[in-house]
Amino acid sequence: MRIPFIDLNAQYAEIKKDLQASFDAIMKRGDFILGKEVVLFEKEFAGYSKRKFALGVNSGTDALFLGLLSLGIGKGDEVIVPAFTYIATAFAVTYTGARPVFVDISRDSYNIDTNKISAAITKRTKAIMPVHLYGQCADMAPILEIAKTHKLKVIEDAAQAHGALYKNRMAGSIGDIGCFSFYPTKNLGGFGDGGLILTDNPEIYKRLFKLRDYGRKTRYEHVNLGYNSRLDTLQAAVLSIKLKHLEKWNNMRRRNAKIYNAMLKPADNIITPEESGYARHVYHVYAVRVKDRDRVVNELRENKISAIVHYPVPLHLQEVFSGLGYKNGDFPVAEKIAHEVISLPMYPHLKERQIKFIADTLIKITRD
Ligand SMILES: Cc1ncc(COP(=O)(O)O)c(C=O)c1O
Repeated sequence: MRIPFIDLNAQYAEIKKDLQASFDAIMKRGDFILGKEVVLFEKEFAGYSKRKFALGVNSGTDALFLGLLSLGIGKGDEVIVPAFTYIATAFAVTYTGARPVFVDISRDSYNIDTNKISAAITKRTKAIMPVHLYGQCADMAPILEIAKTHKLKVIEDAAQAHGALYKNRMAGSIGDIGCFSFYPTKNLGGFGDGGLILTDNPEIYKRLFKLRDYGRKTRYEHVNLGYNSRLDTLQAAVLSIKLKHLEKWNNMRRRNAKIYNAMLKPADNIITPEESGYARHVYHVYAVRVKDRDRVVNELRENKISAIVHYPVPLHLQEVFSGLGYKNGDFPVAEKIAHEVISLPMYPHLKERQIKFIADTLIKITRD
């Protein structure tokens, strides 16, 4: 049995008719940039997330970058980010001219260790950027508390957490702003790049509105340096149609995780993911930990099971950040997790028999 890491064909089949009708209408109207569906999707996503404003942009990376700019962050500032996340989290900080300051992660959730944030705060710190890694929210209550004490902004990187909950609040609706990616493999993914920023603050929203579209006041009057970072109408149409299925698809992911857990938890040499008491995990990634990880990944692949590592190198050890002065040993938990994690195939329509085959194979490979 060959099992891909992700397979979105069944998802496509469910929405094909709606997509065709919507695409046809857009082709006839021709409003490809900032068209009707963009406004509609922004409204729908803001409503789904229980936030006042949502603004579509052209990627999750730009959501973070423009979000930081909208909060006035730039050269000379520092932003706290977890040492274990996708590179884009820290790149967005660097693009603004600010410096990413890394903090180690929790051994249980793989999210930023909230006990270690205060020690990383300096006079220059302007914001904390927690990441809801793999589809599970970071522990936001202590983060908000620290931010309040030190007058810092909070930017949620919710790129992997569409529909995840922290207590009863939606991922991305808790900080000053929440940033999403609609990269095609995400829980809510387009047919290309896309991103979105949530906020309740009308001033931030107004700034973002200009930042994403050349700092325009009117068509050819520009009041500030802006960018070309718009969500395409076609992408918004896809996302609007998919949003109606997101809860169902997230529940299918949760069911799949349950099946994996039931089979893998009892195995001696496999550590399964923990769902924190405060969280509704949406399993964008289902990551287990094993010893001798690289051998295990290779043997899974030899058995036609496509496994990936998110992420083999923590950010403080990435060559691109060598100028920041970090070294091996600075963030022991992030380094350990980066050596041990494997992401197993995970998507809503993954079948029980496929999960059983993956789990059986993994147990065999890790037995000795
Ligand atoms: C945690 C995290 N942050 C940011 C991004 C960047 O999103 P995008 O690829 O849409 O630019 C991603 C996704 O790739 C991500 O996983």
